[in-house]
Amino acid sequence: MNLILLGAPGAGKGTQAEVICDALKIPTISTGNMLRAAVKDGTEYGLKAKAAMDAGDLVSDDIVIGILKDRIAQDDCKNGFILDGFPRTVPQAEALDAMGVQIDKVVEIYVADETIQKRLSGRRVCEGCGNSYHIDFKPTKVEGICDACGAKTVIRKDDEPATVIDRLKTYHEKTAPLKDYYSKQGKLVTVEGQEEVSETSKLTLKAIEG
Ligand code: AP5
Repeated sequence: MNLILLGAPGAGKGTQAEVICDALKIPTISTGNMLRAAVKDGTEYGLKAKAAMDAGDLVSDDIVIGILKDRIAQDDCKNGFILDGFPRTVPQAEALDAMGVQIDKVVEIYVADETIQKRLSGRRVCEGCGNSYHIDFKPTKVEGICDACGAKTVIRKDDEPATVIDRLKTYHEKTAPLKDYYSKQGKLVTVEGQEEVSETSKLTLKAIEG
């Protein structure tokens, strides 16, 4: 099954991707994680992406389409994959269609902007493996230390409140039109993000099965 997770920054796409990955045993492809790794490694496209990411803007379509194309060609994607954070513009969705990639379902996780601002202020990410936590909703066992790899957890640079406002604006302008794009293809299902992660997870799995 090939799935797309759509939703505003901080709606819980990464969290739900983990749940689907466990249930269906298919890999998650997060363009955000791939770009952050490239920035950390100082690769050519990482250097190009950094300024846009820090400002809450999108990275250019050609860079992101290039990295996505290489990633889905890998062996572990043969039985399906979850796209978390791609496509994010109509040209990216058109590029996916032009590659001949068959998408089975597009799951939108809907959360109101005000809730998102609160959630992102509590998010902490591991600077080693990139795992994501929340100080209230998904705390690490030891404060400030990643459960998975033991590295330090930090605040993501683009989770600063002013940048979150810019990211939400970018989402509404450039990414939200994809709802219409996939609705016309009969592939869009919307899951309302709940207070409890486990409640959202139940709704997500139901949406995929249905
Ligand atoms: P990316 O990493 O994709 O960021 P994003 O879309 O802004 O999404 P987030 O990772 O911030 O949030 P999420 O929806 O995954 O939420 P999460 O599960 O962590 O992209 C970063 C940047 O890279 C972009 O701004 C752009 O510059 C660039 N980029 C990436 N892809 C691109 C593309 N295709 N084209 C161009 N540029 C691209 O949850 C958030 C927090 O809430 C967590 O702390 C979590 O624990 C908590 N939480 C989750 N669910 C719940 C719940 N139900 N209740 C309470 N708390 C919850």
